[in-house]
Amino acid sequence: MVDIQVPFILLGLGPVGRTLVRQILDTHKTVAQRTGIQFVLAGISDSSGLMWEDEGISDKMLQKILRDTDNRRKLNGVADLHPHTKLYDVLLPGTLLVDATHTLETTSIVQDALKAGCGIVVANKMPLAAEWAKAKMYYDHPLIRYEATVGAGLPIISTLRYLLDTGDEITSIEASVSGTLGFLCTALELGVPYSVAVANAKNMGYTEPDPRDDLSGHDIVRKALILARTAGWPLEMNNLTSEPMYPQSLASGTVEDFMAALPSIDEIYAAQIRLAQSEGRTLRYVAHISPKGGRVGLMSVARDGHIGSKSGPANSVAIFTHRYQEMPLVISGPGAGPEIKAAGVMEDMLQLANTLQNKTTPSSR
Ligand SMILES: NC(=O)c1ccc[n+]([C@@H]2O[C@H](COP(=O)([O-])OP(=O)(O)OC[C@H]3O[C@@H](n4cnc5c(N)ncnc54)[C@H](OP(=O)(O)O)[C@@H]3O)[C@@H](O)[C@H]2O)c1
Repeated sequence: MVDIQVPFILLGLGPVGRTLVRQILDTHKTVAQRTGIQFVLAGISDSSGLMWEDEGISDKMLQKILRDTDNRRKLNGVADLHPHTKLYDVLLPGTLLVDATHTLETTSIVQDALKAGCGIVVANKMPLAAEWAKAKMYYDHPLIRYEATVGAGLPIISTLRYLLDTGDEITSIEASVSGTLGFLCTALELGVPYSVAVANAKNMGYTEPDPRDDLSGHDIVRKALILARTAGWPLEMNNLTSEPMYPQSLASGTVEDFMAALPSIDEIYAAQIRLAQSEGRTLRYVAHISPKGGRVGLMSVARDGHIGSKSGPANSVAIFTHRYQEMPLVISGPGAGPEIKAAGVMEDMLQLANTLQNKTTPSSR
């Protein structure tokens, strides 16, 4: 049974955007039955432009878009598009705008959408990790949700918010939030040489085409910043130090040069893991964050701790607060991949649809 139809606009048709469209198509009926909410996708865009249908894009057309934009083909090869600027004319109160891009370009449309009374769901970490003066609205506005930016579908952001909303004070956070680097560290622990572990991760599509984009730790710094800011600490990027998981000497040069040079540093990581294991510990890529700043890098952690006991792409976040002082509140589980990330986005959409509905429904009292 459908109680309300919620129009939504999707920015970004990469793996996350595409998976979200597929999940919406697959779950139309069950979601409507469980929640009374039916999402109607009226606009969809990639960098080539915007497809728009006032009444919603038909399921048949959405299937065609998914089929025809496979292999990174652009939306303008499938349909006649409007320029992105049309978005500014179609923002109505109660519409949801979903940002599944990887760019800062979406900030101005998000600002306009908020003014128009839309709800915003963000999977894109870039605007949340921008300088605080520009990013602040993403953390402060009640109609913005961004659960999927850290830990994909794990309820990390909502837990931080719940702690603050119930009067607790967060004192520090310890997080392992990279599926790719978790996979690499587990391989090192099993005795796989570093060069082989990186090559395997690259061949399995776990890394970006240039593995340094993952090994640099930049993405983890963005996630750490998002956690810190959600915890109420308005840190800037330069308050967090980070160490890449490769030596500075390999920072430049082609991907081929980088991959070819990796065997020369196998022993560095083999020695580090031997040392950690001799102390009953192991290595993980970890973010330590507190109100004053933080550190992100490869660290020796207890083998039986909340991070060391997890293997492969599992994420784990420990939140220390006044209430959870001796024993932190720990959230862990799979934290990577478009399927669970898109599910995190959809959960945010449902929450916001309810909030918007309550805002527009006159009180019965
Ligand atoms: N994939 C995952 O499992 C995963 C995991 C963690 C975090 N994330 C984050 O989630 C976000 C989405 O992930 P993804 O893997 O789907 O990203 P992606 O592969 O980089 O795709 C981004 C999409 O945004 C589109 N785009 C770029 N500029 C745009 C604009 N101005 N307006 C509208 N669309 C625009 C791109 O279009 P073109 O193709 O035409 O350029 C592309 O369709 C990213 O920020 C990513 O960091 C993803």
